[in-house]
Amino acid sequence: MTPSRGGVLSALAFALTALALAPLQSQALEDADVPRTNENRTLYAIPVPLPYDSLQSAKPGIEKSTLEQTQFHLWSYISSDYDASKIKRAVVTLHGQGRDAWSYWDDTYDALLNATSPTKRSSKSSSSTSTLNRTSLKRDEVLILAPLFFNNQDTSAYQALDEEFDSQSIVWNGGDWAEGADSILPDTVYGSEEGQTFEAPKVSSYEALDEVVRWFSDKNVFPKMETVLIAGHSMGGQIAQRYALLGAVPSASTPVHFVVANPGSFAWLTPERPEPVDDCPDTYNLWKYGLELSSDGTWSQRYLKSFIQQSLDAKSEVLDVRVRYSEIRLVHYLFGLDDFGPGDTRCQALTQGPHHLGRGQNFLQHLDTQVLGPRREADAAQHGSDNLQGWGKASHTSDFVKGCSHDPMCMWLSKQGIERLFFTNADGEEGPRGVGDDDAVQAKWYPWGVNSAASHFPSRSTSTMLAALAASICMAFL
Ligand SMILES: *[C@@H]1O[C@H](CO)[C@@H](O)[C@H](O)[C@H]1NC(C)=O
Ligand SMILES: *[C@@H]1O[C@H](CO)[C@@H](O)[C@H](O)[C@H]1NC(C)=O
Ligand SMILES: *[C@@H]1O[C@H](CO)[C@@H](O)[C@H](O)[C@H]1NC(C)=O
Repeated sequence: MTPSRGGVLSALAFALTALALAPLQSQALEDADVPRTNENRTLYAIPVPLPYDSLQSAKPGIEKSTLEQTQFHLWSYISSDYDASKIKRAVVTLHGQGRDAWSYWDDTYDALLNATSPTKRSSKSSSSTSTLNRTSLKRDEVLILAPLFFNNQDTSAYQALDEEFDSQSIVWNGGDWAEGADSILPDTVYGSEEGQTFEAPKVSSYEALDEVVRWFSDKNVFPKMETVLIAGHSMGGQIAQRYALLGAVPSASTPVHFVVANPGSFAWLTPERPEPVDDCPDTYNLWKYGLELSSDGTWSQRYLKSFIQQSLDAKSEVLDVRVRYSEIRLVHYLFGLDDFGPGDTRCQALTQGPHHLGRGQNFLQHLDTQVLGPRREADAAQHGSDNLQGWGKASHTSDFVKGCSHDPMCMWLSKQGIERLFFTNADGEEGPRGVGDDDAVQAKWYPWGVNSAASHFPSRSTSTMLAALAASICMAFL
């Protein structure tokens, strides 16, 4: 169903979108809102271990072994009764501000039914050069996961789950999960002696996504896994774009693709903006809107903080996250051509463009002229412009979807949405592109192409590996 076909309807949809998004406050999820299990999807708690650097900075008195055994839970909807030995593709679908993960699961499943229906799909997708056999994707080869990022308003919902399943739900403040912020709950972990409680370490929403990626790329669990897709719409598009930029993405054996649809804002990669910044000159480029630290020199988040700071330091040999994002990370942007909803109306967002569609178009231009352009020129100067064919283009794609406003179902069920979600790397021939970058757990992932030969790099530091990777990428692109 595409609700906004035709001029009148799309004008109406625009008005409704604008209305619905004007106040940034979202509704609390009540217990009754959160469906449990049906024949197609099951509510499932993904265990998330406490992060390494949180353990390091844990308050004295707490035993490390206790922390190491503690797990929090990222609630998610997952396909019922899947057979892990058959799964070739995992589609992680990320909800918007409303946290209605179940409806994202359902929309993604509808798109899967379409993608696997026997009706022949046209293979002449304008944005695709593939000549794949569209009927070859089977429904039981695809696993759909829709994580639920609870926030502090959702007390009734997560407390009911915790009681029902004896779980410890991870909860974030407001929409902070979209920027990788630390959790606010659970705030307590239990010691080995009865009654002993300690302040809990915090968990970034990106650490929770890291666990999802790590699980799906574990060949002992999913021996046939070929592709992991992390796809988000609206605020889900925000977390997808920012996780693609900063995330560790620990996927030693499986390529991970990101689908960023109609986000309210982007993390911009340079301080330039398409619109005036006069109303917020000191804050428009701070994380989550840009890569700058706040005036006190700190990041608003703990996740990979030291790695990111090193990577942005030109003197450091750690690969720059902007280069990694624009040239290595596989990102597909989808924009609804009717999405004129203003979404985030803060000054910082407005410097990126007036509405979802405008910010999307501006971001693509930013990527091309301010990020890739200067690198292309520098390389042309060094190596000659004849050698630049295809440089930096291959890893990002963009599609504009007719007849869609700010509507995840419309986006996922569009021809372009289905193409990206279900036919990216359909032949399974891509190698993994996971890039190790978290110093604390460097042994867990490797640059693509060397994952099966990890023993060739037994004693290298992460930064040396990244330097080697950067060199090999330069060669690959030239
Ligand atoms: C589950 O999926 C089937 C198609 O595979 C569909 O016919 C059915 O309506 C779905 N059930 C629910 C509760 O959505
Ligand atoms: C397409 O895939 C189906 C099912 O796997 C197979 O039977 C058919 O021969 C394939 N067609 C082509 C043209 O490869
Ligand atoms: C799949 O979606 C396309 C539009 O993108 C539509 O034309 C087609 O009828 C749908 N097929 C099924 C089986 O739902």
